[in-house]
Amino acid sequence: MKAAVRDRYGPPDVVDVREVDIPVPSADQVLVRVCAASINRADLDGLYPRWQFMRLFLGLRKPRIRGLGLDVAGVVESVGPDVTRFRPGDEVFGDLFEFGLGAFAEYVCARETAFTSMPVGIPFEEAATLPHSAILALQGLRLRDGRSIGRGDRVLIVGASGNVGPFAIQIARSRGSEVTGVARTGKLDFVRSLGADRVIDYTEVDVTRTGDRFDWILDVDAHHSILRWRQALRPNGAYVALGGSGGWFLKALPQGPAVSLATGKHMGLMLWWQPFKAEDVETLKELVAAGTVKPAIDRRFALSEVRDALRYVDQGRAKGKVVITV
Ligand SMILES: NC(=O)c1ccc[n+]([C@@H]2O[C@H](COP(=O)([O-])OP(=O)(O)OC[C@H]3O[C@@H](n4cnc5c(N)ncnc54)[C@H](OP(=O)(O)O)[C@@H]3O)[C@@H](O)[C@H]2O)c1
Repeated sequence: MKAAVRDRYGPPDVVDVREVDIPVPSADQVLVRVCAASINRADLDGLYPRWQFMRLFLGLRKPRIRGLGLDVAGVVESVGPDVTRFRPGDEVFGDLFEFGLGAFAEYVCARETAFTSMPVGIPFEEAATLPHSAILALQGLRLRDGRSIGRGDRVLIVGASGNVGPFAIQIARSRGSEVTGVARTGKLDFVRSLGADRVIDYTEVDVTRTGDRFDWILDVDAHHSILRWRQALRPNGAYVALGGSGGWFLKALPQGPAVSLATGKHMGLMLWWQPFKAEDVETLKELVAAGTVKPAIDRRFALSEVRDALRYVDQGRAKGKVVITV
């Protein structure tokens, strides 16, 4: 089978599509014929980690895992002897973050718990956009104690035009919140088309200093310190950052709890992510079935073009999701 692999860290150029053996599922593993996969920021962070400490987990000098790709949708081809939930022919999707990656390939083999049945009424290409980013959006709009956004809340989505942001806008709108999306100039129309009530161009406006106050700020990839965001939050508001640069992390980890304690607002990095959590996946499937969440696909690339696809996302050109069709 063909699979995207890399032997060293580096930009998308290090990725090759090579011929490798089709894995054989053992024990509770299923072999899935991949129909579609999608690209996430995490794929690029795995290619050349933004945070050098990640190499402790990914491999110090070269990546321990050669395959790439988290988000997958496809058809079960064969199953191991202990598999109870699936049989050949079942249509499934999943997030391979905790299951050895490898979605950018013709087949992928992982434990059955990596997958669940496909959402009803959408094609593989759309299902493949959901597992990683839409779950991050759902969980970023909810605190560890279950507190979330509601009707009339003023919600700011910073990084509204990438993988997570479009899902976050749609989820927030479905809860009756008033949504402002932040993106660069050329992507503002796209953000509006997702349902945002207002948009802000971060290349022209310092979003932390507009004078506006929000009940919830979801910052997909932080570019300002927590201290700066403090003034943009209403009393009892929440600022949830999903990620940021290494320098941002170092400051945010102590600042988040300290500022939260001092202000009564919740501010900090999301530390409660549970990849492809079953309960959230069911919620997501309902939102998709109701047409409330509709994946926004920018471009599709064939598996042989995976390098171009990764480059396209890495260069910040994508509006929404980029899909690999297999
Ligand atoms: N906390 C956790 O447990 C956890 C787990 C997994 C992943 N993550 C994080 O989740 C995030 C996933 O993000 P993603 O895949 O949606 O990223 P993405 O697709 O790369 O999107 C990044 C967004 O940030 C915007 N942006 C870029 N520069 C900006 C600036 N200076 N000011 C404001 N916005 C700016 C981009 O806008 P334009 O495109 O319009 O420029 C884009 O909308 C990553 O940060 C990842 O590290 C967190």
